[in-house]
Amino acid sequence: MEEKDSKIEIQDPTSEERKKDHIQLAFQSQTQVHDIDHRFYYEPLLSGHPGDDAIPSTLLLDHTFKIPVWVSSMTGGTALARTINFNLARACKQFGMGMGLGSCRSLLYSNDALPDFDVRHLIDDQPLYANLGIAQVAELVAEGAYQKMKELVDKLSADGLIIHVNPLQEWLQPEGDRYTESPLEVIKKVLDHLDMPIIVKEVGQGMGPASMKALLELPIQAIDFAAHGGTNFSKLELLRSDEARAEALGPLVRVGHSASEMVQMVNQCVDELGSKRQCNEIIVSGGIKNYLDGYYCLDSLSLPAVYGQASAFLKHAREGYEPLEKYIEGQISGLKMAYAFLKARKPLQP
Ligand SMILES: Cc1cc2nc3c(=O)[nH]c(=O)nc-3n(C[C@H](O)[C@H](O)[C@H](O)COP(=O)(O)O)c2cc1C
Repeated sequence: MEEKDSKIEIQDPTSEERKKDHIQLAFQSQTQVHDIDHRFYYEPLLSGHPGDDAIPSTLLLDHTFKIPVWVSSMTGGTALARTINFNLARACKQFGMGMGLGSCRSLLYSNDALPDFDVRHLIDDQPLYANLGIAQVAELVAEGAYQKMKELVDKLSADGLIIHVNPLQEWLQPEGDRYTESPLEVIKKVLDHLDMPIIVKEVGQGMGPASMKALLELPIQAIDFAAHGGTNFSKLELLRSDEARAEALGPLVRVGHSASEMVQMVNQCVDELGSKRQCNEIIVSGGIKNYLDGYYCLDSLSLPAVYGQASAFLKHAREGYEPLEKYIEGQISGLKMAYAFLKARKPLQP
């Protein structure tokens, strides 16, 4: 008997410690039925533990993503932004992701801030997109200065241009820009004059079904949701505003659309548009807190897609490369389990 016990100990040396932990921690480990994540069916019978190839690669933006993850556009123009951009670009190469740069407006007329944005040497051949706001794009279009956009993309060795459409943010921003032509008309003119991939996004409010349908009918490379539910630039601008203005315009912060609602919209538009649809790719973003939020949307969407995060990456990228690497490794570990054992329930949960 003694000999048998010592054999078990050799095969499973942490057994005694583990059993003690189990008894001590059992009462702290109670769960509640109302905490169940009802977005998924969990199917433990149908797969073994995921291996290295558990996450399928995704073909999007004419590139291969090793994991279906996009680093959403963030800022440039400060020393800290340079470090952040460098860390993010390095991570994109290491993990096979893609990246949108923050607004590159300052590079339209000067190269002073170029070193903050110049990350092609770090990201290698993973997808990289420049970024401009619709107000600047409308100005360039009005001047017939289409070539300026092409020059911007070329100086960054980027694959194309993201146009962010942010009427609420501009209206709420104390020093915000105004434009009078609809973004749709401006974007159509850009497409008529420039032969380069264009992505269109919001900045944290999302967009409704008519805007979504109009975009899906254009020959753009992708739509990036930038949905409501995460970082919200309307709210951010009100925090920079005076009290009376913040009180008057505050209710506008709460309008918008979540990423999962936008997934439903896209699926419906795809059915309705049939062969009239020209845009085939989606970046699901805005309020994607973790890999489960991302996986849920990707598994529910009827178009090829990756999911994007801004603030979640920012939090770790500003601390240094190692914390960022650790964060992404954790997300990949969870994502592998999602691919192996979870299936999105239909209809979509809000
Ligand atoms: C610090 C910061 C700067 C941002 N700057 C830009 C920008 O220049 N251009 C843009 O299109 N979006 C910008 N965004 C918006 C993000 O790309 C994204 O759409 C939004 O933050 C929602 O994603 P999240 O909920 O994952 O943070 C910025 C976001 C953050 C957090």
